[in-house]
Amino acid sequence: MILVTGGAGFIGSNFILDWLSHADTSVIALDKLTYAGNLGNLAALTSDPRFTFVQGDIGDTGLVSQLLSTHQIHAVVHFAAESHVDRSIHGAEDFIQTNILGTFRLLEACRAYWAGLPKAEAAAFRFLHVSTDEVFGSLSAEAAPFTETHLYEPNSPYSASKAASDHLVRAWHHTYGLPVVTTNCSNNYGPYQFPEKLIPLVILKALAGDPLPIYGDGQQIRDWLFVTDHCAAIREVLARGTLGETYNIGGWNEQANLSVVHAICELLDRLSPRANGASYAHQITHVADRPGHDRRYAIDARKIERELGWRPSETFETGLEKTVQWYLQNADWVQNVQSGTYRDWVRQNYTERS
Ligand code: NAD
Ligand code: DAU
Repeated sequence: MILVTGGAGFIGSNFILDWLSHADTSVIALDKLTYAGNLGNLAALTSDPRFTFVQGDIGDTGLVSQLLSTHQIHAVVHFAAESHVDRSIHGAEDFIQTNILGTFRLLEACRAYWAGLPKAEAAAFRFLHVSTDEVFGSLSAEAAPFTETHLYEPNSPYSASKAASDHLVRAWHHTYGLPVVTTNCSNNYGPYQFPEKLIPLVILKALAGDPLPIYGDGQQIRDWLFVTDHCAAIREVLARGTLGETYNIGGWNEQANLSVVHAICELLDRLSPRANGASYAHQITHVADRPGHDRRYAIDARKIERELGWRPSETFETGLEKTVQWYLQNADWVQNVQSGTYRDWVRQNYTERS
């Protein structure tokens, strides 16, 4: 059985669905169900005997230790985190608590469990830490994409907290020998992404007839990867990654934010045209920039391709169309996540920018 932290979030839930469609190993998801956690993402597994959900905090050492030993966990895939840069700018406390302190406590619980395993099981145990390309900071337009040896230069409270967690994971391997691997991935998009992030936010605001908020000049560049490609990469790293190593994961797909938003508008113009025939692109609005906004991220994903044979299978065109279709076809999911607290966040983040 594997333990997936943050399994009710965007990537965690996609990972569990993907894992259970490829392997017969059972999965236990541990998730605190913050605003970003949603059991609706895992509704398809309600009666699947291979799946168990536990609501709880990665920082609850007693709970984590009990789950590890009761279920004889052989791998931990650690997604749980506070993940939104803008929220980290408004208030960093939860990011420090979960991303740093929570990861520390999880590592300690795993270390105690792993130290008590019989030799062969201890050797097979894995702690896979899911991290981000944001730990490397911002690239100039001409700079080569991030490799695994790129300097850590995190610029936001979010990326600083993820960088700290990466360093803890590294240290638990070097000092205690805990069998860890870390992945640093670029921007994901796809089904079940909470609509605080650019792509789902723009799809839903467009359909609602609201302004589409572009921070600053919209020329910031991200390297977009369809979420199931990320899940496949994690499966490969878990199965065959070298202990103590880090693997960069990316889409070879650099796009300026404004181009992403135009691409979404063009898809919506075709798939869900406005009654008056006008393009959704007319709703694009430039708003105040994100403080400390990183200009460009790009991943050099040659190591994972060379060592593990992984490459993304989805193109941005096919992945984005699947994503837009998913949001059009899942109105109930959308309605459920757009609660009062979601509306409060949108008001807080966007009113002061306009
Ligand atoms: P998300 O915000 O959608 O999900 C995070 C999940 O973690 C939620 O279900 C939440 O309830 C849970 N959680 C938060 N604090 C917790 C705690 N203390 N204990 C237990 N559960 C807790 O995030 P996501 O986009 O799915 O990202 C998952 C991971 O992947 C994060 O570690 C993030 O840093 C990393 N990552 C994300 C991206 C991206 O583009 N979204 C890219 C690279 C890496
Ligand atoms: O690079 C990986 C990271 O990608 C992950 O580690 C993070 O968890 C994930 O949230 C994501 O971070 P970004 O800050 O890049 O994602 P976000 O969707 O918030 O923003 C993408 C770009 O779009 C960024 O340049 C900011 C811009 N943006 C975002 C929002 C929400 C806008 O222009 N307008 C917006 O309203």
